[in-house]
Amino acid sequence: MPRYLITSALPYVNGVKHLGNLVGSMLPADVYARFLRMEGEEVLYICATDEHGTPAEVSAMEAGMDVRAYCDMMHEIQKDIYARFGLSFDHFGRSSSKENAVLTQHIYKKLEENGFIEERTIRQIYSLDDERFLPDRYVIGTCSKCGYPAARGDQCDGCASLLDPEDLIEPRSAISGSRNLEMRETKHLFIRLDLLAPEIEKWVDGHTDWPRLTVGVAKKWLNEGLKPRCITRDLTWGIPVPREGFEGKVFYVWFDAPIEYIGATWEWAKANGREDEWKSWWFDAEDVYYVQFLAKDNLPFHTVIFPAMLLGTREPWTMASYIKGFSWLTYHGGKFSTSQKRGVFTDRALEIFPADYWRYFLMAVAPESDDSDFTWPMFATIVNKDLAGNFGNFVNRTLKLTASRFPVAGGSCGSGVRSGARTDAGTGSLDGKPGQPVGVIPEGGEWGPREEQLQADVNEALDEYRRCLRQMEFRKAVLALKKLWSLGNLYIDERAPWNLLKTDREEGAMVLRACVNLVRTFALASSPFIPFTAERVAQALGLTSEEASVRMADVGNLRALGPGRTFEVPPVLFKRIEDDEVERLTREFAGEGA
Ligand code: MF3
Ligand code: ZN
Repeated sequence: MPRYLITSALPYVNGVKHLGNLVGSMLPADVYARFLRMEGEEVLYICATDEHGTPAEVSAMEAGMDVRAYCDMMHEIQKDIYARFGLSFDHFGRSSSKENAVLTQHIYKKLEENGFIEERTIRQIYSLDDERFLPDRYVIGTCSKCGYPAARGDQCDGCASLLDPEDLIEPRSAISGSRNLEMRETKHLFIRLDLLAPEIEKWVDGHTDWPRLTVGVAKKWLNEGLKPRCITRDLTWGIPVPREGFEGKVFYVWFDAPIEYIGATWEWAKANGREDEWKSWWFDAEDVYYVQFLAKDNLPFHTVIFPAMLLGTREPWTMASYIKGFSWLTYHGGKFSTSQKRGVFTDRALEIFPADYWRYFLMAVAPESDDSDFTWPMFATIVNKDLAGNFGNFVNRTLKLTASRFPVAGGSCGSGVRSGARTDAGTGSLDGKPGQPVGVIPEGGEWGPREEQLQADVNEALDEYRRCLRQMEFRKAVLALKKLWSLGNLYIDERAPWNLLKTDREEGAMVLRACVNLVRTFALASSPFIPFTAERVAQALGLTSEEASVRMADVGNLRALGPGRTFEVPPVLFKRIEDDEVERLTREFAGEGA
C-alpha cells in the first residue's frame, strides 16, 4: 500500500492570490487529498508560502516594513484565506523556516561535493543609490525596439520582446528610480544542468503515464539543451550560501523554494512532536507515491530543475511520481492581473459567495488540458444549474417533503401535524431555523425493481467518479458527480412520492426513505469538492462523526439510514444568482482598464 505525498506549488508570500492561482494548484490538490483520505489512504498534504526573493523584499519596502515582519503578516493572511476555502493542508509552512535553510544548504553541499556546482564571474547592474545589485526585471527604461517607456530589463510589455538590461535606453532602478547605475562584476554559483541532463531525461522517460502538458514542457526544455543555471543572488533576504567568498550572498529563491516541500514536512513533523518522521516521507521512502500540483509556468522547475537538484545529491530523495500541470484560467478572455486589479482575488471572492460555490465552479472549469475562461454568466449558470438546481434542490425538496409528511412526534413541528398533512407550515427548520429535528425517516414498504435499479445506477456513477478522481481527471469527476446527483431528481420525479403517499402509504414511505438516503450519499460523495455543504447536510441528517467520515466505498449504500432516525431541514444550500447580480459583478470586477 503506497502512502500519498501531495504538494501544491508554493504561493509567493507577497500579495493575496487570485482564483487562477487557486485552481492551478492548491484547490485540485485539496480535492485529491480529501478524496484519497476518504478512500482510506494515508495522505500527507503539504504547502507553504514562498517567501524569499526580490518581490518579497520590494513589497515589504513598499509597505514600509521589515521583510521578515512583512512575511509574517502576509503568511498569516494567506493561511487564513486558505483555511476559509477549506484547503485541508496537513501543514502550511514557510520557506523562510530554519528547516528549509538546513535542507537547502545540505543539498547545495552535496551538489558541490559531487561536482555539479561551478563558480563564475558575471557582470550585473549595480545601483549605487540603492546600494545593491538589481535583478534584470528591476531595471526599467525605454525599449530600444519599440520605444515603450516602461520596459523591464527582462522583457518589454509593449512589444513582448525578451530583453537584456543593456537593451534599455536611459535605464533606471525600479526600486528608487535612480539612474546612478553601473555594471559590476560579481561571483555566482551555477548548477551544471548540462551534466545532469541525461539522467533527467531518463527519469522523465520513465514516467509514461504523465499528462501530455507535463511531458511536453519537460521534453521541450531537454531538447533545447540544458545549460548551467545560476542559483545565487546578491541579496540579503534569503538563505546564506555556505561557501567561502560568498558571504553576503543568498540562494536564488527558485533554488530554495521547492526544497521547502521537504522543509515544510519537517516543520509538520516537528509541530507534531515526531520530528524524525519527515524523513520517512522524503528519504529512502520507497512506498511513497508523490504527486505535485502546479500551473504550467512552474513545470520547467518541477520536471527539470528540482529533479536535477535532487539527483545531483546522489542521495535517495523522494522524487515526483506524478506531476499534474494546469493551463491558465483566464478572466473574461484576458489575464487575471494583480497590477490592474482585474479578475477576482481569493479574499474578495469569499466576501461575495461561500467557499463551496467557488470550489465547485473552479473545479468544473479547471484548465486541465487547455486554458479555460472565467466569466460571471458562466459562474452563475453553473452555480444555478448544478449546485442550486440539481444538488441543492434535491436535498431541500426531499427533506422538506419528508418532514412535512413525517414530522417528529411532539417535536418542534408539533404533534398536531398529522403524517401526510399537506402543509409545510409551522415546522422549526422548515422555516430556515436550524437546530431541531423536524422529520423522521418513515418505516414501511419494501424495495422493488426500481430501487434495485437506483442502487445499481448509484454504484455505477460512484465507480466512475472514483475512477476519475484516482486519475486526477477533475472535470470528468465533476461530470460523474452531476450524473450521480441527477439520479436523485430522476427517481423522485418518476416515483412522485407525494402522490404515492395518497394511494399506497407504505410504498410512498419507502421511496422517501430511499430519497433521504440519496441525500446522504450525495453529500458524502461530494465532500471533496464542497466540504462545507457536505458537513451541513451531514449535520442536518444527524450523522455521528463516525457516520459522516465513512469510506468512499460505503457512501453509496442506500439503506444506511434506517427508519426512525430524525433529521432537520437545512436552510437553502445554494442561492440562485440572478441576472442583475451577474451584471453588477461583471461591472465591479472589470478592472481599471475597463
Ligand atoms: N512561488 C512560485 C509561483 O507562484 C511557485 C514555487 S513552487 C516551488 O510561481 F516548488 F518552488 F515551491
Ligand atoms: Zn518594446
